[in-house]
Amino acid sequence: MIAHRGASAAAPENTVAAFLEAARQGADAVELDVRRTRDGVLVVAHDATWARTTDAAELLPDRAPWRVEDLTLAEVRRLDAGSWAGPEFAGQRVPTLAETLEVLRPTGLHALVELKAPDRHTVPLVVRDLVATRLVPGRVTVQSFDAGAVRLLRQELPSVRVGVLFRRVSRSRVREVAGWADLVNVHHAWLHRGLVEEADAHGLACYAWTVNQPGAVRRLLGLGVDGLVTDRPAEIRRAAARV
Ligand code: G3P
Ligand code: CA
Repeated sequence: MIAHRGASAAAPENTVAAFLEAARQGADAVELDVRRTRDGVLVVAHDATWARTTDAAELLPDRAPWRVEDLTLAEVRRLDAGSWAGPEFAGQRVPTLAETLEVLRPTGLHALVELKAPDRHTVPLVVRDLVATRLVPGRVTVQSFDAGAVRLLRQELPSVRVGVLFRRVSRSRVREVAGWADLVNVHHAWLHRGLVEEADAHGLACYAWTVNQPGAVRRLLGLGVDGLVTDRPAEIRRAAARV
């Protein structure tokens, strides 16, 4: 059970509050998205801009459109990443990747780190952060829709588990990816038995994203998926227990 952007139905996505809520709800892992700041720090952010999930528009009115890549870490630190989800989350800050890995360490949660819009700087920064946080082998998976980026990471840091994200994928593409990756993570609506069998036959794990409807769980478990990415880990675990 992988909490999508943390337990993001209950707490502001991609914040420490959402990661700790995932632990409280009994998730096995958290999924989080990373992007690079202007000064080259990997921070946890899904969108390309800070407009939706922070108070950037009020705090920095002259910096529209508040692209993640245009603000420095010092500027990002000033943003409130919690209030948009409710006053009880006021003051949540945007965590860095390194800080997030440290927060997760004592929880025992696995980190499923998604590289958003990676460029030539991204993989070296990921390697630096994973090495600096004395990564526990087997506790981190790095995934991306950009297969080239995760393939490069596999070469640079072979001990880290890597996965490729797809909305929709063919069996032949799954076979290709199996040559070097550990995981395929496919939109749940496009998953079918043939894909899961193909992944299985080639030693690849297969996850489904993003599963928030309890009614979808029976079909997916029946297909034999290895992981469900969800905003609601406790509710989806209850649904899985009923299958
Ligand atoms: O883990 C899969 C999922 O996170 C991909 O979609 O847009 O939520 O990053 P998105
Ligand atoms: Ca994601």
